[in-house]
Amino acid sequence: MISSQKIKETATKYIIKNCNINTIQTKSKSPEEILNLFKKKGIDEDWTFAEYKPSDTGKWTHSYHRYPAKFIPQLVEKLIDEYITSEDAHIDDPFMGCGTTIVTAISRGFTGSGTDINKISSLITQVKSTPIEPSYLDQKIKSLLAKLEFIADSQSQNLFPGANIEHLIPQKHIERINYWFNEQNKNELGMILRTIYDEEDKTIRNFFLIAFSHILKNCSIWLQGSTKPTRDFKKKPTKPYIILRRHLKKMQRGNNSFYQTVPLKVKNNIKNYLNIKIQDAKTQPTSSNEVDLIISSSPYVTSYEYADLHQLSTIWLEFADSLTEYRKEFIGSAHKHSNNKKLKSNIAQEIVNKMQEKNKKMAKEISTFFIDMQEVFNESYRILKNGGRCCYVIGDTCLKGVDILNAEVFAESLQYSGFIIDRIIKRKIPSKILPQKRDIKTGRFASNHHANSEAYPIEYIVIGLKE
Ligand SMILES: C[S@@+](CC[C@H](N)C(=O)[O-])C[C@H]1O[C@@H](n2cnc3c(N)ncnc32)[C@H](O)[C@@H]1O
Repeated sequence: MISSQKIKETATKYIIKNCNINTIQTKSKSPEEILNLFKKKGIDEDWTFAEYKPSDTGKWTHSYHRYPAKFIPQLVEKLIDEYITSEDAHIDDPFMGCGTTIVTAISRGFTGSGTDINKISSLITQVKSTPIEPSYLDQKIKSLLAKLEFIADSQSQNLFPGANIEHLIPQKHIERINYWFNEQNKNELGMILRTIYDEEDKTIRNFFLIAFSHILKNCSIWLQGSTKPTRDFKKKPTKPYIILRRHLKKMQRGNNSFYQTVPLKVKNNIKNYLNIKIQDAKTQPTSSNEVDLIISSSPYVTSYEYADLHQLSTIWLEFADSLTEYRKEFIGSAHKHSNNKKLKSNIAQEIVNKMQEKNKKMAKEISTFFIDMQEVFNESYRILKNGGRCCYVIGDTCLKGVDILNAEVFAESLQYSGFIIDRIIKRKIPSKILPQKRDIKTGRFASNHHANSEAYPIEYIVIGLKE
């Protein structure tokens, strides 16, 4: 972290480099200036991407797995178009989610690095970024489906499927599995998982595991579309084999078009271009001064509990012994360990003070969140080359009547890590992927009929430059 004296020195030295796009100005900004800057900012219509259909936003491997609050590939592509000129760039994302940034980097022949604390995120990103030779994949999918065909056969004959076939149902989490799945689907899923684990080629096995993970919600009594773990006793869960077959075909089409897109040099040596880790965003898997561009969307405070949301995958794929412990590592989670460091951002401190009067626990969560994010920005600064930029996508919101000015805090905090605020983009969010509503009591994201407060109809891309 740097002092305000250093910010001033940096400011006087600063000359705009490599950028002729709507750049803000040449010096560091006080909290008041930052607040004004955001107040005056108009919508950048070019960044709404309203014309894109789900088939565009879900192209290539982008629809392999649902993921809450993922951003659309077109946003990442536009940032790369505007800021990258070299052919061998390195792009990083400290909060990879389902890998939108990394897939896009790989599609362009760039190196993609990053982290996510969510174990399923890393597996999704790995699989989505790895193009597979189409005829080989076709043969593997046919072979898997042929081995599992007996499930469909026994259903048509009204037999209990695979009574004598070995299952793989993780006993460690059997209570949670019984909580979410009926007996028949549990057994079918157990047989599918056993057959997938028998696949020897790890790339193919992981591809199948992502298909398996994606179908779990449909096969359970998880209230469809809910961002909270809620059971729906009226739901008729989908039969696993049928939906697995359909989803594998969809993934196969995605792989085939991705395979055509990815440059040969990357296809032949994917390991050299992909460097992703399951770990905290405060430590990126790259040396200092290596990265050209960071494109990321951080978690939000008091919003999604990613560990809870992906619990079906976590229990079936045995990612965590204890969900309670697992949650504590997630930035923005209400369960996150607080640290004893001090807030640097004045805007954040003001928000925390206001929240103190309404809800002390939430005030602590907000403070922890902004302290964590300051450390992530320090790490972004370390790994970027001089002239490199970090682009953080984030929205403001309101909790318990207090305006949570995430974007403004991010802009101020980036300066404390050494960045110049290079550009602010304000965009409308037309996509339904992003949550628009909050439950006013809990502050958590809610499905529309339970919601009574706007969440993030607008978001910002806050861009910092390491000069
Ligand atoms: C808004 S999502 C990112 C979505 C991503 N841009 C995409 O397109 O899929 C935020 C991510 O931050 C991750 N996360 C939360 N705490 C983290 C931590 N301590 N370190 C790294 N990642 C974390 C969550 O698991 C989640 O995947």
